[in-house]
Amino acid sequence: MNNIIILGAQWGDEGKGKVVDLLSDRFDIVTRYQGGHNAGHTVFVGPKKFVLKLIPSGILRGKRAVIGNGVVLDPGALLEEMEALGRAGIDVPGHLAISNRAHILFPFHRLVEKVSEARADRVAIGTTSRGIGPCYEDKIARRGIRVADLLDTENFRALYASLAQDKKTLARAFQIADTIDYEKARAEYEQFAERIRPMVCDTSRLLNEAIKTGQRILFEGAQGTMLDIDHGTYPFVTSSSAAAGGACTGAGVPPTKIHGVIGVSKAYCTRVGGGPFPTEDGGAAGERIRKAGNEFGAVTGRPRRCGWFDVPLLRYTSAVNGFDSLVITKLDVLDDFAEIPVCTGYRVQGRVTDEVPATIGQMEALDPVYEKAPWWKGSTRGATSYDSLPDGAKRYLDYLAAKVGVEIGCISTGPERNETILMPDSRFTKLIG
Ligand code: IMP
Repeated sequence: MNNIIILGAQWGDEGKGKVVDLLSDRFDIVTRYQGGHNAGHTVFVGPKKFVLKLIPSGILRGKRAVIGNGVVLDPGALLEEMEALGRAGIDVPGHLAISNRAHILFPFHRLVEKVSEARADRVAIGTTSRGIGPCYEDKIARRGIRVADLLDTENFRALYASLAQDKKTLARAFQIADTIDYEKARAEYEQFAERIRPMVCDTSRLLNEAIKTGQRILFEGAQGTMLDIDHGTYPFVTSSSAAAGGACTGAGVPPTKIHGVIGVSKAYCTRVGGGPFPTEDGGAAGERIRKAGNEFGAVTGRPRRCGWFDVPLLRYTSAVNGFDSLVITKLDVLDDFAEIPVCTGYRVQGRVTDEVPATIGQMEALDPVYEKAPWWKGSTRGATSYDSLPDGAKRYLDYLAAKVGVEIGCISTGPERNETILMPDSRFTKLIG
């Protein structure tokens, strides 16, 4: 009974939503372990498009969905999402469990984010402006408010008063226009509490009990490894442990109960927000990728920065996560490119290396080394078997797998569920059973 982690191998937006949706039939529970409503999974079910920010997409397939303790929860955003799904006929309250240990995100977290993003002496990260970082700051500083606290009204009021006072002081100190009605927000959150109460439980216990009875769990990472607080391009990262290790702490499930890790990568590369991106193509080719791949943020609508597949980066994220298999998405986006460069190394002071540097300065100074080849020109769109791909596309995929050192077990050739290639006899098909 395999429990699997599936997560992004680049800077997020790799197309995990579709893959998780595709796999959820084979699992009993789908769990989120970090991040908040900064994430955006776009999933198509027939003609219907769903953008899920907090709720694991397994819910669309009638699966049990769990929001783990590592997630930061904006109850307003959650209820909005629940209502939208409810209108589409999806029974969220019957299927969703929310950790009593997840931290609550408040309107003042967005205020704090504004303060830190606007400070003249700090580089703006280009966040999603959802207050995610400041909520994690309160968590790590041990003054955060958790779901269990929210449900305990007396206790909540005392904790809230103290946390709100901190933020008012901060806003005054930094001369930020603070328009938050703190009392109104508190009352609103107390109402939210009653609406989520029936879904709240100790989700670590729920998951571990489920494992004992042989149920299968899919852990769904949000963002991507290069946005992980420790392993990403710090400080241009999100504030949580997006890498595979985060699944254990963020869901309360031991590493001994995880049987495989699947990485999702685009056939090229994108990033939103600031920060280094060695293979970015700021020219016409990047623009063509953006158009062909509809590369605009699912949550913020921001145009994504586009560039080429980066082998050293994938080797790095494979090492950090221990990928058993890779899913390559959006192969069809490259169909019309006469030439597709692949970055095979980084030139640093005349020497070629595949080591991903730790500092932004070093990362920006490196010179990507490209191997350019024509690969293929022709349609891969909608292909459902490896054999039906153009020869050049097969060579491209084989080349990426060999260079990264991880098999490619699944290929996505379009947004629909059936526009997918599953590689027979791969570790991927064995893991998903
Ligand atoms: P935050 O998560 O809002 O604090 O933003 C920090 C960085 O992570 C910014 O560069 C965001 O653009 C990026 N980011 C956050 N969530 C996502 C996501 O789901 N996909 C891609 N980038 C993201």
